[in-house]
Amino acid sequence: MGLYAMLLQFMLAGLLVASTAVPVTAQARSGCPDHCGNVSVPFPFGIGEGCYFNASFEITCNQSAVPVQTFYGDVAVESISLNGEIRLFSVIAHHCYKKSDQSVLHNKPWFRLGQFTISDTQNKFMAIGCDTVALIQGYRGNDRYTTGCILSLCESLRVVDDSCSGVGCCQIPIPKGLENITFTLGSYINRTDVTEFNNCSYAFVVENEFTFSRKYLQGFQGETKLPMVVDWAVGDESCELAAQNKSTFLCKGNSTCDGSYNARGYRCKCEDGYQGNPYLDGCYDINECNTIANPGLHDCEKPGYCVNELGNYTCKCPKGYHGDGRKGKGCIPNQIQLVEITLGVTICSVAVVAGSAWLFMLHKKRKLIKLKEKFFKQNGGLMLQQQLAGREASSETAKIFTAEELKRATSNYDESMIVGRGGYGIVYKGILEGNNMVAIKKSKIVDQSQIVQFINEVVVLSQINHRNVVKLLGCCLEEEVPLLVYEFVANGTLFDHIHDEGKAATMPWGTRLRITAETAGVLSYLHSAASIPIIHRDVKTTNILLDDNYTAKVSDFGASRLVPVDQTQLSTMVQGTLGYLDPEYLHTSQLTEKSDVYSFGVVLVELLTGRKALAFDKPEEERSLAKYFLSSVRKGRLFDILESHLVDEENRDQIMEVAKLAMRCLEVKGEERPSMKEVAMELERLRLIEKHPWVNLGSNSEETEYLLNGKSSNSYSNGGSSNNTSCGYDSIKSHVIILPLDKGR
Ligand SMILES: *[C@@H]1O[C@H](CO)[C@@H](O)[C@H](O)[C@H]1NC(C)=O
Ligand SMILES: *[C@@H]1O[C@H](CO)[C@@H](O)[C@H](O)[C@H]1NC(C)=O
Ligand SMILES: *[C@@H]1O[C@H](CO)[C@@H](O)[C@H](O)[C@H]1NC(C)=O
Ligand SMILES: *[C@@H]1O[C@H](CO)[C@@H](O)[C@H](O)[C@H]1NC(C)=O
Ligand SMILES: *[C@@H]1O[C@H](CO)[C@@H](O)[C@H](O)[C@H]1NC(C)=O
Ligand SMILES: *[C@@H]1O[C@H](CO)[C@@H](O)[C@H](O)[C@H]1NC(C)=O
Ligand SMILES: *[C@@H]1O[C@H](CO)[C@@H](O)[C@H](O)[C@H]1NC(C)=O
Ligand SMILES: *[C@@H]1O[C@H](CO)[C@@H](O)[C@H](O)[C@H]1NC(C)=O
Ligand SMILES: *[C@@H]1O[C@H](CO)[C@@H](O)[C@H](O)[C@H]1NC(C)=O
Ligand SMILES: *[C@@H]1O[C@H](CO)[C@@H](O)[C@H](O)[C@H]1NC(C)=O
Ligand SMILES: *[C@@H]1O[C@H](CO)[C@@H](O)[C@H](O)[C@H]1NC(C)=O
Ligand SMILES: *[C@@H]1O[C@H](CO)[C@@H](O)[C@H](O)[C@H]1NC(C)=O
Repeated sequence: MGLYAMLLQFMLAGLLVASTAVPVTAQARSGCPDHCGNVSVPFPFGIGEGCYFNASFEITCNQSAVPVQTFYGDVAVESISLNGEIRLFSVIAHHCYKKSDQSVLHNKPWFRLGQFTISDTQNKFMAIGCDTVALIQGYRGNDRYTTGCILSLCESLRVVDDSCSGVGCCQIPIPKGLENITFTLGSYINRTDVTEFNNCSYAFVVENEFTFSRKYLQGFQGETKLPMVVDWAVGDESCELAAQNKSTFLCKGNSTCDGSYNARGYRCKCEDGYQGNPYLDGCYDINECNTIANPGLHDCEKPGYCVNELGNYTCKCPKGYHGDGRKGKGCIPNQIQLVEITLGVTICSVAVVAGSAWLFMLHKKRKLIKLKEKFFKQNGGLMLQQQLAGREASSETAKIFTAEELKRATSNYDESMIVGRGGYGIVYKGILEGNNMVAIKKSKIVDQSQIVQFINEVVVLSQINHRNVVKLLGCCLEEEVPLLVYEFVANGTLFDHIHDEGKAATMPWGTRLRITAETAGVLSYLHSAASIPIIHRDVKTTNILLDDNYTAKVSDFGASRLVPVDQTQLSTMVQGTLGYLDPEYLHTSQLTEKSDVYSFGVVLVELLTGRKALAFDKPEEERSLAKYFLSSVRKGRLFDILESHLVDEENRDQIMEVAKLAMRCLEVKGEERPSMKEVAMELERLRLIEKHPWVNLGSNSEETEYLLNGKSSNSYSNGGSSNNTSCGYDSIKSHVIILPLDKGR
């Protein structure tokens, strides 16, 4: 395929997405055509048997005409709208006089509109010509009705102006409720005086916007299509009577009946804030906050402030702000800003230092030391020593903190210093001497499995030195429970930022992309660049922290595994967090690096959609985000599930690329997923494009098409583990037992 063809396909793909982003509601009965040419045909109208409400609403479509023609009876249709109007092309009466043989050529058209009536407010009757009598006759109910005008003689074209004031042209309003119309045209004196410039006269009904021009006097052969507006309604009775019989009443859910219409019958109308076809399936709520599908329907200052409600929306300021959130007013920060903080995690090479510190203590206070020694052993100090023996100590200086020091830093573990709680324990904010902020993680209970994780984390972190990994500053083994001291990461977890409405709104696409690239970079580093490959095993948004500058810091290595270089997979007890758990790993218990890739894929989707990885409050099919994402993309509905404010014209392509990447990460078979290195490189490449939009995306058109059409060669549900993934494995909690490192292999 040539480059040009690829480009074209890519552009077409973009257009397709643009057009599918707008939800198209079924306007015709299922199985029926909903348009003819470019005329849309909504129910109660229909083309073909069974598609219309009854014969009064039958539309015919001549597909072989060019352009395709739509008819209501014999009259051509311009458009049909659900608000009770159908625009037809007017039937034109003509009366022509041929001077040469004195013959007269005329028609006397009439048309019936069933129970429909010509709109009296939107049309006028118009006659054009000189020396002309023009009549319009019709019925109002059963009464015959005739009106018309007599046009003056006009000796030359000069006496005629363009205002249709009675010379050469006349117009009169249409009476209410006119049906079954006939036009009659005639002349007084065989037009002997006027044939020079006007051999024909015309009469027709036309919509008010139509303007007369004196050139029509010279020739008006019907090549101009003249639209007229016809009112339509259903039923034969008033709203009150019709509504009494539910089985025949045509106004379905969330619609109101309108009987103010001037003839027989009634109309149905969606309630304010609802859309759809009230005659067919009823109306459904318009999501004013979905700026992709319904742009310009809300006036909140930021899309993230908008909260959809049934039939309406409100603007809501995020936590910590007040105001009405509308354009021009916005949200004002509260006086007391809730400082939300959380913990961090990282580096240590506590190893030998821990031991020597312990020895040092021994010299100081014998009695206390005895106790501390006990704790140290209990807390896995010896295990830690063993683990680290033989490993080269990192150049990072890890500190042994005294119990006293940490107690002071946290005001004796005061409630007010708590910044996070979890299954693992409690995280406190601490202020060390010199005003250094740290996060202190205190295990909840002394439980052997916790100790193992604790040691594991120290061991793993001692292998890593990366700017996007939370730094472990040191630890304290003297307390009854072990304490870890981390750098303080001020801006909380990525999870909070995605799932808090206010915060999500202030996190633009560029930042999201950077965070994913940074996280992918860390995982890629763990898998390949670190001295011993490490599998994180618990990649999720709550384990990605953000600092003041929204720089990603990956944390929580309690579940991580070091993978000996000569082994590519490990048999382990399945461990991880539901919603992020690799289905293949779940199935086989074979841990590989690709499990992290899967979890990272879920993080990507979470950032794209703003939805939680596992949502028990959602309907069955939306519960597992990964599953829902794949099925939505397969149905070509990617843009429906994206975080509403994310997409704009500039980043559409990028978002599609990231979605594509996420799909690859979520492949059921691990071997079909890309490596973390590949993922990181791809994300870096996309970031480059963001900075330099002229860089060609070089998209793989085949994949793009697959993304759009939702055809997947390898769908999640074929994977065997999709049968209610979320429920069957409820017993697997985050951070269950992990085998000691040296035995697990
Ligand atoms: C339908 O197509 C014709 C030409 O093919 C165009 O003149 C007309 O405006 C179109 N109508 C609508 C409603 O798009
Ligand atoms: C449809 O249009 C074509 C071309 O104008 C005409 O020949 C044919 O008779 C029409 N068919 C019907 C069913 O009106
Ligand atoms: C009316 O006159 C014009 C020229 O003035 C001529 O082209 C046209 O064919 C005439 N129409 C009829 C119906 O005689
Ligand atoms: C409509 O007009 C036609 C022809 O003039 C006539 O036969 C028919 O009875 C009229 N229908 C009604 C309802 O007035
Ligand atoms: C008009 O023409 C018709 C026949 O073409 C003729 O019977 C009639 O008398 C003429 N009227 C006038 C006023 O010339
Ligand atoms: C179609 O239904 C309308 C009521 O909506 C009724 O007035 C009309 O007579 C019906 N027409 C036919 C052909 O049954
Ligand atoms: C409602 O309409 C159906 C169908 O026309 C009819 O059979 C039924 O008797 C009507 N019910 C009432 C309460 O009018
Ligand atoms: C929707 O809410 C706005 C104010 O939030 C109000 O002005 C408007 O009238 C409401 N619309 C409807 C249909 O209730
Ligand atoms: C009215 O609209 C709401 C929101 O779209 C929808 O959930 C509900 O089913 C609708 N009611 C009916 C009777 O269709
Ligand atoms: C989080 O980051 C934003 C943007 O840099 C900053 O305005 C805000 O103060 C930070 N929040 C905290 C709690 O540090
Ligand atoms: C955030 O960025 C500013 C300016 O680049 C820098 O001075 C500051 O140290 C950064 N903060 C963190 C926590 O990295
Ligand atoms: C899910 O598993 C249960 C029991 O293993 C089985 O009865 C059921 O048919 C499965 N459902 C699907 C959709 O595969």
